Amino acid sequence: MTDSHAPMPGAESLAEPMRSRWSPSIFDAEHTLSTAEIRTLLTAAQWAPSSGNMQPWRFVVAERGSAAHDALRPHLSRGNSGWVPRASVVFLAATQVEPEPDETDDPRAFKGADVNIYALGQAAAHLTLEAQAMGLWAHQFGGFDKSATGDALGVPASWRIVAGIAVGVRGNPAEVSERDQEREHRERRRKPVEEIAYGDRWGSPWRGVD
Ligand SMILES: Cc1cc2nc3c(=O)[nH]c(=O)nc-3n(C[C@H](O)[C@H](O)[C@H](O)COP(=O)(O)O)c2cc1C
Repeated sequence: MTDSHAPMPGAESLAEPMRSRWSPSIFDAEHTLSTAEIRTLLTAAQWAPSSGNMQPWRFVVAERGSAAHDALRPHLSRGNSGWVPRASVVFLAATQVEPEPDETDDPRAFKGADVNIYALGQAAAHLTLEAQAMGLWAHQFGGFDKSATGDALGVPASWRIVAGIAVGVRGNPAEVSERDQEREHRERRRKPVEEIAYGDRWGSPWRGVD
């Protein structure tokens, strides 16, 4: 399916799959992923780098029709409740934010919540880019009650669900609400490099910016 979402001007020089990645909101609600495909996506996350190789990420695999999917759906924000459930699978991405209370773990194993959230983001990026490379589409989302979802799924207090990653193939716009159709066509924009890259001091332009 060709469309005007990617690459946007400025992104043409990127390598695939970064070049063509974007986050669609209209998934095919009939499509399912094979176990092997889901395993490949998890393998991409598995091979992300992490501090001390602690791999502080866990994913609840919520396939459409599964008990985990049933646990998530009531906690989606209004804006996400239409499009997320249509995806073939949602990965609920969690990391450890506090040391284990019973100290059964090696105390050195917990590197800190910020380090762990950073690592989880890397794993999520690996998973989403692998999805793109496989001809699938991924759309991450934070708009849901993560605490209630975590409770429903039995996530321990020292771990926190940080985001969901909806993966599937693109679906028929006629099957979704106007709101979700509109969301699909929002213009994709980015801050200019001069706003995100500094040189000698915080706030001073990096030399590569005109
Ligand atoms: C941590 C995170 C949370 C997000 N939360 C939502 C969300 O709740 N609902 C939504 O529709 N999109 C959500 N998004 C998708 C972003 O809106 C989207 O990635 C951004 O607008 C850039 O668009 P692009 O992915 O097409 O480049 C989220 C993305 C990330 C990484």
